[in-house]
Amino acid sequence: MRALLFFASLGFVAAENGLNGWLRYASLPCSGQCRSNLPSSIVILNTTETSPVYVAGTELQNGLKGVYGKRVQVKHNKCKASSSVVVGTVDQYREICGAAKGVPELEEDGFWLDTKGKNVQILGQNERGALYGTFEYLSMLAQGNHSKVAYATNPSAPIRWVNQWDDMDGRIERGYGGPSIFFKDGQVVDDLTRVAEYARLLASIRINAVVINNVNANATLLSPTNLDGVARIADVFRPYGVQVGLSLNFASPQTYGGLSTFDPLDASVVEWWSKITAQVYDRVPDMAGYLVKADSEGQPGPQTYNRTLADAANLFAKEVQPYGGIVMYRAFVYNKLNESIWTDDRANAAVDFFKDLDGEFDDNVVIQIKYGPIDFQVREPPSPLFANLFNTSMAIELQVTQEYLGQQSHLVYVAPIWKTILDTDLRVDHQPSLVRDIVAGKRFNRKLGGSAAVVNVGTNTTWLGSHLSMSNLYAYGRLAWNPADDAQDILQDWIKLTFGLDRKVLDTITRMSMESWPAYEQYSGNLGIQTLTDIIYTHYGPSPASQDNNGWGQWTRADRDSIGMDRTVANGTGFSGQYPDELAAMYENIATTPDNLLLWFHHVGYTHRLHSGKTVIQHFYDEHYSGAETAQTFLTQWESLEGKIDTERYNHMRHFLDYQSGHSILWRDAINTFYHNLSGIPDQAKRVGHHPWRIEAEDMKLEGYKTYTVSPFETASGSVAIVTTSNSTAGTASTKINFPTGTYDLAVNYYDIYGGQSEWKVYLNNREIGQWIGNSEDTFSHTPSIYLDGHSAIRIKFRGVKVHKGDTLKIVGMPNGNEPAPLDYVALLPAGIVD
Ligand SMILES: *[C@@H]1O[C@H](CO)[C@@H](O)[C@H](O)[C@H]1NC(C)=O
Ligand SMILES: *[C@@H]1O[C@H](CO)[C@@H](O)[C@H](O)[C@H]1NC(C)=O
Ligand SMILES: *[C@@H]1O[C@H](CO)[C@@H](O)[C@H](O)[C@H]1NC(C)=O
Ligand SMILES: *[C@@H]1O[C@H](CO)[C@@H](O)[C@H](O)[C@H]1NC(C)=O
Ligand SMILES: *[C@@H]1O[C@H](CO)[C@@H](O)[C@H](O)[C@H]1NC(C)=O
Ligand SMILES: *[C@@H]1O[C@H](CO)[C@@H](O)[C@H](O)[C@H]1NC(C)=O
Ligand SMILES: *[C@@H]1O[C@H](CO)[C@@H](O)[C@H](O)[C@H]1NC(C)=O
Ligand SMILES: *[C@@H]1O[C@H](CO)[C@@H](O)[C@H](O)[C@H]1NC(C)=O
Ligand SMILES: *[C@@H]1O[C@H](CO)[C@@H](O)[C@H](O)[C@H]1NC(C)=O
Ligand SMILES: *[C@@H]1O[C@H](CO)[C@@H](O)[C@H](O)[C@H]1NC(C)=O
Repeated sequence: MRALLFFASLGFVAAENGLNGWLRYASLPCSGQCRSNLPSSIVILNTTETSPVYVAGTELQNGLKGVYGKRVQVKHNKCKASSSVVVGTVDQYREICGAAKGVPELEEDGFWLDTKGKNVQILGQNERGALYGTFEYLSMLAQGNHSKVAYATNPSAPIRWVNQWDDMDGRIERGYGGPSIFFKDGQVVDDLTRVAEYARLLASIRINAVVINNVNANATLLSPTNLDGVARIADVFRPYGVQVGLSLNFASPQTYGGLSTFDPLDASVVEWWSKITAQVYDRVPDMAGYLVKADSEGQPGPQTYNRTLADAANLFAKEVQPYGGIVMYRAFVYNKLNESIWTDDRANAAVDFFKDLDGEFDDNVVIQIKYGPIDFQVREPPSPLFANLFNTSMAIELQVTQEYLGQQSHLVYVAPIWKTILDTDLRVDHQPSLVRDIVAGKRFNRKLGGSAAVVNVGTNTTWLGSHLSMSNLYAYGRLAWNPADDAQDILQDWIKLTFGLDRKVLDTITRMSMESWPAYEQYSGNLGIQTLTDIIYTHYGPSPASQDNNGWGQWTRADRDSIGMDRTVANGTGFSGQYPDELAAMYENIATTPDNLLLWFHHVGYTHRLHSGKTVIQHFYDEHYSGAETAQTFLTQWESLEGKIDTERYNHMRHFLDYQSGHSILWRDAINTFYHNLSGIPDQAKRVGHHPWRIEAEDMKLEGYKTYTVSPFETASGSVAIVTTSNSTAGTASTKINFPTGTYDLAVNYYDIYGGQSEWKVYLNNREIGQWIGNSEDTFSHTPSIYLDGHSAIRIKFRGVKVHKGDTLKIVGMPNGNEPAPLDYVALLPAGIVD
């Protein structure tokens, strides 16, 4: 016992790299009653090693050993073993052990968990359900929950999929956790160890299928060699109850098959897809189905031949139907538009393209609809397409990968966004019509329905790029199973499993996570104007101007006096009219539109007053200050957990949250400067444009440095930075400090671009007080930039620097590669000043 406790405390501080996610089985104390309650054997009702029930037995063995240090034997088909955990399907139990008393009728993938009797019973409707029940039981044990329970649970919907956006060359579109675990150099990788580990994580959150390749699909996946590789991947996922699906490129018959056409109604094209589909199912008999992105962002589609989207979807549906497969057809279809036309609106596209096709899709087609009408923005209303298809199956598409939400370099717990959408009542026919009931197929009596999430895990041991981002993957699975669950309850289970049961750890990470989406919305785009990231380049840092004056349709229509999309029926794009009457009326009327979607639906002056009483522009200013201030507390809250979390994960997250504290200030200043410049309206609190504790780099004495005008202008303080004049010799910027003598935090804002690793050293009266290297492209998850801009802008802080009035501050920057040691400004921050 003593040895065990010693081991336990050692285990707690040991380094953890994140590979096991929430399935760490970290040790917990357990003696007396707790110990005697633990099962002393595991009985599995299927002895085939590749069966999910067998996997469940191994998982139980590892869990009991890891959490409670108890070695337990796995027995096969021994129903009478006492004090055991019995795992199998209801049918297997009935056959081998006799009647399963008290077990209600289960739906597909559902399970029964009973810890009340002499033996623990985990019985699935199928083997997948039995594995899910096992993970549920282990989750209880790993949270120190020994309650006596007996209950059945069933999924809200049959489709609980994830979509990988992995390319065949090993890169991942919008991936922030390293290269692909599936592909490399155009082929499936040999070593599938990470795939098995991913399968385990997915099974534990009840995901039943994974589409392994990018929706912007490459037809070379269909080569015989690559299909053999797909079969190997499917073999790895199968024991975990996860089926494999494939994204298709619509033009494959022509570009890859050598036909003269890819017309979905052409007999040779149909025959070509039949042959391919047969080759796929020959290797993967339980292939889940196809995912299709067509006529979207340059992808080929049926429009080339004037065929309907239903013609395209049904082509594939007919091919996979005999094998039990389904077709997920993405609703993300839109054309480029002309901003000069006031009534043009990309948000209208999904309903425009799909509404008239309602009822024309085969039964095994599911339309996969992004949660909002544009593209995973920080705030969108639910897609109105959910309220316009009554005779067509639908699934909601979510993003675990934080494409527009800080790319894992910012903490953003996304589940509350999803909940906002899922819990919206669309009032179809004036009846309760929650989005979550519509996509589950309950509202319109569809057999199929559910959800798909883009989950760009990579080879990084953190999977997604940052440890705290994993709460989003965990929450996705939980909500796919039961969208009525509470986002904070889910989060807290994840925290306990990931970081242990310490009360302070639980409370702190809960608070930070629950504050993270509101803060991110505050310091990025407010009032439904969208995230305001650079939509043309990386989708990461601020660039409000990038939304407008192009055909992509993510417009803000901001000018000197006014801002927002007029989506009214009366005078605008008519988008509000795509909702059922009650919502349409609410959004049509500026007085009843909620403030947080005001600029989504209406074009107003900057001095328009919100329900809160503030003007639009003052609200922007205030929110950005408030959000950035909250982001500073994420770092200090995390630091209060030092010693309570293993050093590897503690340091990794500290590094990230420190970065976020600086980047949130960059966001704040960029957006405020941009709209201040555009509108010319001052901030009532006199913060915007006034930075009393800053020294601009361009105002320092420069040797070997020159000024550089940054674009976009709002991403540099004073719109100017400095860069070295040579790319091989150091530059120096120095200045006398005129601030009062005292202790300050010294912040240095610089740019860290891709393609070089400059070195900077900072001196006070020739005494070095700090140095750093521009290697953030290796140490953070977000997409790097090759320019000085809002993506590469970054702040480093040196705390508690004692400064005397008149001291000389000097920064020496050594360029490297194509990175000319850029500097924007320094700030000397007295205690309590955020800048
Ligand atoms: C055991 O698992 C194998 C592999 O999944 C499966 O083919 C078989 O039907 C299962 N046996 C029973 C009795 O369910
Ligand atoms: C223990 O687990 C059961 C079953 O999941 C749950 O209903 C209960 O709320 C949990 N108790 C605690 C204290 O978390
Ligand atoms: C598709 O993959 C092949 C093989 O890796 C590659 O040569 C080709 O460039 C890819 N095509 C596209 C459009 O990415
Ligand atoms: C599609 O229809 C348009 C007008 O209806 C016609 O101009 C065009 O030639 C057609 N294209 C094809 C490929 O049939
Ligand atoms: C956009 O519309 C305006 C006004 O109708 C027109 O003058 C302009 O040529 C159009 N631009 C494009 C690229 O079609
Ligand atoms: C739904 O579509 C089917 C054909 O796919 C049709 O028979 C039926 O009438 C449609 N129902 C409604 C309510 O539109
Ligand atoms: C109506 O639309 C026009 C553009 O067609 C716009 O200039 C005007 O401001 C809008 N009026 C109102 C009251 O929103
Ligand atoms: C906005 O920026 C432009 C170009 O730098 C400048 O001429 C103008 O004075 C600025 N306006 C305000 C209100 O700051
Ligand atoms: C994982 O990614 C982080 C940045 O997100 C990086 O610092 C770290 O080196 C990577 N680790 C591995 C093993 O790839
Ligand atoms: C350094 O700059 C010169 C010209 O200014 C350029 O030709 C050279 O490629 C640069 N070197 C590196 C390593 O970027």
